[in-house]
Amino acid sequence: MTSSDIRKAYISFFVKRGHKEITPSPLVPENDPTTLFTSSGMQPLVPYLLGEKHPQGTRLVDSQRSFRAQDIEEVGDNRHTTFFEMLGNWSLGDYFKKEQLTWFFEFLTKVLKLDSNKLYVSVFEGNKDIPRDIESASIWKNLGISDDRIFYYPASKNWWSRSGPPEKMPVGEPGGPSSEVFYDFGTQHSNAFGQKCHPNCDCGRFIEIGNSVFMEYKKTESGVEKLSQKNVDFGGGLERLTMAVASEPDIFKTDIFYPIINQIEKTSGKNYIDNLNKKAMRVIADHLKASIFMIADGVLPSNKTQGYTLRRLIRRSIVYCKDLGIVNGVDIIRAVVPAVVNIYKDYYSYLSAKQQQITLVLEEEALKFSKTLEKGLREIEKTEKIDGKIAFKIYETFGFPWEMTQELVHKRGDTIDRTEFEREFEKHKQLSRSTSSGMFKGGLADHSVETTKLHTATHLLHAALRKVLGVHISQKGSHITDKRLRFDFSHPQKMTNEEIKTVEELINQQINKNLPVTFTIMSYKDAVAKGALAFFSEKYQDKVKVYTIGPANAGWFSKEVCGGPHVDFTSKLGSFRIIKEESAASGVRRIYAVVNN
Ligand code: SER
Repeated sequence: MTSSDIRKAYISFFVKRGHKEITPSPLVPENDPTTLFTSSGMQPLVPYLLGEKHPQGTRLVDSQRSFRAQDIEEVGDNRHTTFFEMLGNWSLGDYFKKEQLTWFFEFLTKVLKLDSNKLYVSVFEGNKDIPRDIESASIWKNLGISDDRIFYYPASKNWWSRSGPPEKMPVGEPGGPSSEVFYDFGTQHSNAFGQKCHPNCDCGRFIEIGNSVFMEYKKTESGVEKLSQKNVDFGGGLERLTMAVASEPDIFKTDIFYPIINQIEKTSGKNYIDNLNKKAMRVIADHLKASIFMIADGVLPSNKTQGYTLRRLIRRSIVYCKDLGIVNGVDIIRAVVPAVVNIYKDYYSYLSAKQQQITLVLEEEALKFSKTLEKGLREIEKTEKIDGKIAFKIYETFGFPWEMTQELVHKRGDTIDRTEFEREFEKHKQLSRSTSSGMFKGGLADHSVETTKLHTATHLLHAALRKVLGVHISQKGSHITDKRLRFDFSHPQKMTNEEIKTVEELINQQINKNLPVTFTIMSYKDAVAKGALAFFSEKYQDKVKVYTIGPANAGWFSKEVCGGPHVDFTSKLGSFRIIKEESAASGVRRIYAVVNN
């Protein structure tokens, strides 16, 4: 069975058992400002695990693309990756332990045909508030898992919530004891990881292939309390299940990775089996794959939030290319992108439609970085002691993200402290703030009638661009005078004449409909939950003003967190016209537009 067959089989197994297949969320979560990336299947389902009714019912299944930034430096061993797919099934107050464990066991042994003697399981050992999970242990026993393959672990291993064990959970967060299944690859244990090997040992012999979380608790001020419903939150790494099916202890040798490694071998002229080069090849394969999926979901390299992580992934790949003797980052990108698109052609067919755009973004970033890479590396080499201040200079001058300099410093056996780097960064930010005296509040030069109209036009433009070009569009800057608006937004390529025309038409339709422009005041969290666009979250106070163009509740055209002012009805704009579209910076386009009545 290939990874693609496994995904299909899993979804159909649970659909046959009454589950509805739901649409996975993009890698950048929608309406969730608390986190940068979707990192597990349950993330978009939190409100429903807490008791809200899900429109598709109480049994759900999907395969969720996920990214875990905290694992960037772990990549290089036989199993860690930053990007992965999580097969997930959920019971929202429906079935519980018996059905979940029995079905998963059936899926593993009957559908995937894994040898049950190679399966080990873990259950929660209990603590002062939550009982030992003897129920799960006894279900496993009845399914044929002998006592010596059932392990009890504390909350650090067998409790799952988005923030870890109970003491780390914020009040209101759902969580619960979990039961994991491990596959025994039978590889040699190394004492470097402890005297005795066991399922949670890090030597690589046992690999976790599925986690059933019995999410029936919620954090309170004093401990935990039961939720109004008992949920099941299951997540299993597709890549790891593929390893088990192929009996292949190296994730990079499975069908979901090897075609990428193959391209890296060809480009570098080096063999993967040669141990010296394994880590570099694994890092490049993982990071470029993750970057491709991020770009496809609308992320562009930048110095902030998701864009910064993407930049770090691309730049880190380029540094590892150097270890393999690949001097031109573009070569590796041209070899790897088609391989990734081909691996995922069945399930993520949108990748091929975006292949050209993805390649362009990657190439541009690689070229930009290649120009300074050598110089930056030389600077690090020749500097005897690198402190935070120098690391900041290297960041500013050569574009080396902090983590990369830190890694290079660690590699040569030195240490480096982040505090000084942060201090320099802050100083630099303040300096640029105080020197940008030409900035206008909220991008407005004044509050004249003309400027106000153009401000409303900017909201219409923002919403229209997202509808025509896609949700990757985000505002990067705005400047309005009484003559014209200027709007900068993330988009990797020039807009076509056709696209410009469609955007203009869409806006003029809204003007002709004479839609009301209204505002309400609410918490920032509610604003985001209601779908309001809010791109400068660090600036916002707890209560914000949300402007809506169109009906306030359903069917609105635009909703944005904004201080105003705006016209009261869109017909006041008369008509809208784009007068220029050009590049503003790498990955950022600029539109000049006017209104006229
Ligand atoms: N939420 C759990 C995990 O991420 C199970 O889906 O492991």
